Amino acid sequence: MTTEINIGLEGVLVGATAISNVEGDIGRLSYRGQDIHALSQQSLAAVIALVLADKQLTEDEAKAFDAWLAAESELGAVELRVLEQLGRGLHPMAVLQALAPITDTQARNPLPAFLPKELEKALVLAAKQSAIVRAWHNLCQFGSLVELPAGLGFAEKLLYAFNRAQPSAHAVRALETVQILQMDHSFNAGTFAGRVVASTKASLAASIGGSLGALSGPLHGGADEAAVMMAREIGSADQAAAWVSTALANKVKIMGMGHREYRRLDPRAAILKPMARQFCEGTQYQGLMDTLVAVEEACQDEFGKKGKEIHANLEFYKGAVYLALGISEPYFTSLFACARVFGWTAHFFEFNQDPRLIRPRALYIGK
Ligand code: ACO
Repeated sequence: MTTEINIGLEGVLVGATAISNVEGDIGRLSYRGQDIHALSQQSLAAVIALVLADKQLTEDEAKAFDAWLAAESELGAVELRVLEQLGRGLHPMAVLQALAPITDTQARNPLPAFLPKELEKALVLAAKQSAIVRAWHNLCQFGSLVELPAGLGFAEKLLYAFNRAQPSAHAVRALETVQILQMDHSFNAGTFAGRVVASTKASLAASIGGSLGALSGPLHGGADEAAVMMAREIGSADQAAAWVSTALANKVKIMGMGHREYRRLDPRAAILKPMARQFCEGTQYQGLMDTLVAVEEACQDEFGKKGKEIHANLEFYKGAVYLALGISEPYFTSLFACARVFGWTAHFFEFNQDPRLIRPRALYIGK
């Protein structure tokens, strides 16, 4: 029996996946063999179908699937009553975790026939994550649900509900791009947590509950909110270098920087940075964006002095895009979950093709 301990499982192969490929040494990410740069131009519904069913939809099919997702992204009376009873101070990630096991997965409409019927309930559960976030936001911010006009698309509904106004096509496209970028990422902590739950033969909802908990932490998905809070604390771009230098001297982690897998720039950050610049330019978020850029540069300088490299990850510039789209900090990670839930679901089905209880071993060091 080996007594070598690897708490973080760095580099340990714990399974195989055909869903996404993270090539950290060359800074490349692909879903089902397609590069994330090309996928980020596709529609959200098309990428969901690709990730979950490995199916390339036609434009008409993608439109029909988006309409189906939008229609399923509604809560029933019981789910709404539960939400209304919850204390308004709860973080949206806690709310998502609370509702996952009690969500009704009965579809309102049959899943379009070009997708496998066995995905129907799972897709209802996934689509409802957006409905929960919308409803929770509206209850906390406005005291009641925003009435949505008929015919809105899946992502469009989110933006309409957050802003109480019809979003521009440009804004909807931007949200779809951000959601595509964060849909899947191999065996990240959240996905692995979901696999552990699935390995006990627990339900998809239980597995998603586990993934949601892991995603909420600031070393994982919670870094999106933490990075913007950090930039706000720093205050302005000219304070960034001194702040970063003090933080690193005190072993404080810079949120949104660094990644376990990427040795080069995270390809998702490479797409998000110019988007954030474009969306923040000339807005109230310009100063925040300048601060983020200055923090990234200061981090690279500091690490460069030690002969090391560090790069922004997905979380660093994402918040600036979300803010410009009218999505405030407490909702960042829950919107991440609204996208990643499709990846988690794909992993749940993939895992169950060849399941095995995940039960590692500990070295006993007690009395
Ligand atoms: N700030 C400061 N130092 C850092 C950072 C950072 N963000 N990231 C890495 N380092 C340093 C560590 O201090 C460590 O230095 P040392 O070797 O001198 O001790 C070295 O780089 C290795 O860092 P680890 O934390 O051991 O590496 P790990 O693989 O565990 O890190 C992680 C990955 C957790 C993402 C880390 O980079 C981090 O904490 N980043 C900030 C949080 C964050 O942005 N998380 C989101 C990741 S993306 C996602 O989950 C969707």
